[in-house]
This record gives sequence, C-alpha cells and structure tokens, in this order.
Amino acid sequence: MIIALTGTPGTGKTAVAKILNEKYEIVYLKDFEKAKKEYDEERDSYIVDMDYLKKEVEKLRKKEGKIIVEGHYAHEFYADVIIVLRCHPDELRKRLEKRGYRKEKIGENVEAEAMSLITSEAINIHNKNVYEVDTTGKDPKVVAEEVIDIIEGRNREKYKPRINYSEVILSWY
Ligand SMILES: Nc1ncnc2c1ncn2[C@@H]1O[C@H](COP(=O)(O)OP(=O)(O)O)[C@@H](O)[C@H]1O
Ligand SMILES: [Mg+2]
Repeated sequence: MIIALTGTPGTGKTAVAKILNEKYEIVYLKDFEKAKKEYDEERDSYIVDMDYLKKEVEKLRKKEGKIIVEGHYAHEFYADVIIVLRCHPDELRKRLEKRGYRKEKIGENVEAEAMSLITSEAINIHNKNVYEVDTTGKDPKVVAEEVIDIIEGRNREKYKPRINYSEVILSWY
C-alpha cells in the first residue's frame, strides 16, 4: 500500500514523516538524486525528472506493507491513499520566513496554499482517496496521529477535503 504524503512546502511533511518513520517505511522523493536535473536559479529549485520518479514509485508497489512517499509532488504518482497537509497561509508564511526562503518563493507557496492548489491537483489526478490534515497550530506529533488514523482507516470522513483558506486572499488587497 502506497501512501502519498504531500502538501505545499512548509506544511510539515518532513517533520511528520520523521515521526511516522517509527511505524512505516518512508520514501523521501528529495532523496532521488538521479531525478535532479539542472538547478533553476530563478525559481530557486531543481528541475525534476518526473518520469524517473514515476517509475521509482511504481517499483514500490511490489513491496509488502505500508510505504509513505513524502514530497510536494507525491500526489502526481501512483498512490492508494493521498494525504495533503494543510496550513493557514499566515502561519505558513511565518514558517517559510523562518526557513529563510526568498520573498518571491514565499509568496508563490503561500498563494498556492490559499488556493488549495495541491488538494485540487490531487483530486483531479486521483478523484478519490484524497484526505487533508490541518497542521495550523498543531504539534507535528498530533498531526502524525491524525495521519495514522487515515492510513489505518479510522475516522476518514473527518478528513475529506474541505479546507478553504481563500478568504485570506481578500485581506491581501
Ligand atoms: N505542525 C507544525 N507546527 C509548527 N511548525 C511546524 C509544524 N510542522 C513543521 N513545522 C516547521 O515548519 C517548517 C517546515 O516543516 P517541514 O517539515 O520541513 O515542511 P515540508 O517538509 O512540508 O516542507 C520547519 O521549520 C518545521 O519545524
Ligand atoms: Mg520537506
């Protein structure tokens, strides 16, 4: 069983995956060095070979047990369950500022989160089995417990996509 753990950068995927590592096998998409093509200076990120990653994720299907694929494009590949971590844009901005991201990169990610971009993409690609966990004001340990609930099939109704931060966009103008 493959679980995609996705979300806008800064929503806490890596922090949560590190906790979940006690219970599940974790595959970090960032660790596939061969998937990194050239560095895009302007966007401050790598251009990634999506076909290569797609094949690597497909290979994981042969393995036993529950495997979490972590990364902000994990929802673009094969997955039985897709979990999108969410964060209120105002808190996300603070997290990304702390991380030292450039102003443009912060703006881009905060806007994407305000528009629920990753959830929309995940629903477009998978249609079902998409769930959301709000991380705003929550300790990563609490978030990890909620992710475990979804993986283990408990309370899934509670996590159906319904998070909407779009009203904050109005406060920006
Ligand atoms: N639930 C949370 N509450 C507050 N801060 C968090 C939470 N989860 C992660 N963070 C912080 O936010 C930043 C980004 O977290 P990280 O796990 O690296 O996000 P991602 O892997 O999704 O980009 C880190 O500084 C981390 O310590
Ligand atoms: Mg990360």
